Amino acid sequence: MLKILFYDTKSYDKDSFEEKRLQYPKLKIDYMKSELTPATARLAKGYDAVCAFVNCEVGTATVRLLHENGVKLILLRCAGFNHVDIDKANALGIRVMRVPGYSPEAVAEHAMGLALAANRRIHKAYVRVRENDFSLGGMLGFNFYGKTAGIVGTGKIGAAMARVCRGFGMEVLGFDKYQNPELDFVEYVSMEEILSQSDLISLHCPLTDETYHLICRETIQKMKDGVILVNTSRGGLVKTEDLIEGIRARKFFAVGLDVYEEEKRNVYEDRSDEILESSITARLLSFPNVVITSHQGFFTEEALSAISETTLENAMAFLNGETTENEVR
Ligand code: NAI
Repeated sequence: MLKILFYDTKSYDKDSFEEKRLQYPKLKIDYMKSELTPATARLAKGYDAVCAFVNCEVGTATVRLLHENGVKLILLRCAGFNHVDIDKANALGIRVMRVPGYSPEAVAEHAMGLALAANRRIHKAYVRVRENDFSLGGMLGFNFYGKTAGIVGTGKIGAAMARVCRGFGMEVLGFDKYQNPELDFVEYVSMEEILSQSDLISLHCPLTDETYHLICRETIQKMKDGVILVNTSRGGLVKTEDLIEGIRARKFFAVGLDVYEEEKRNVYEDRSDEILESSITARLLSFPNVVITSHQGFFTEEALSAISETTLENAMAFLNGETTENEVR
């Protein structure tokens, strides 16, 4: 039997895991709403494993507390693991497993959704028409057909986005440390060329020391005037201050963000009756050509089903003493 404590559980997480759990009688799961942080890590005492999502704080202090309380496995029900101190976990003998690719199309389709909404000002049109205002001022967009898309990071999600862009009749440029052999229609170029040639730039590389603030004043200056930027990867890829400066300088035709640097306290919370401590989100939202969603690229039925299945399989692999490619070292 493996006892797992789920942190940061939303109703849709529970529904999707409970639907499959009967097939795994050796897994005992308790669900909790609190996020996993140093303040809540002690609650895992008596459990073999914890299950955390993307906005939990699984840094050094949390990992140490989990270890002190007997936890041997961290199950991440997400792909990214930049929020986990992997070295510390490994050093303390805690195994970390993730769900590397649950539905790349879910995120890629959302990225294109953001690009289209921001380009054609669908967010504004929705509100305007509800007010019986049928005017078109400020709504002018441009065709994606025949334009150039630049995909930064052509792994699973980037590849899916490249295919979506090709479907729109775009020329597709790619930048990655490794070329994806499946993408024979993508022209691999340097980052400089992505910046200078793309009408739509979509970010799909992970957040690492190397990619932190990849989009900043210097790289924004190298972009085409009137470019559309979409980030569905991680907020830290874009230096928000410089992005705001670029938006104010009319560099961008539109910007679509599913992630942004100060999302941490907002993600998946209803804060509609609060006065937010940060003005960054409000400033971004004040621009007519910016569309923001709350880290929901993954949020489709197919993705949730794949996440629960792989997470439960990961738990079983641990219980059976097996190794899995989903382990992060
Ligand atoms: P992946 O590992 O399949 O692909 C990432 C690609 O980025 C790889 O091809 C890698 O070589 C490349 N890369 C690494 N460092 C790079 C660099 N310095 N410059 C250019 N390319 C670089 O990962 P996947 O599944 O495609 O996910 C990509 C990212 O999407 C994740 O790291 C995660 O942050 C984000 N994500 C966002 C979600 C959302 O809900 N918005 C959901 C799932 C993932």
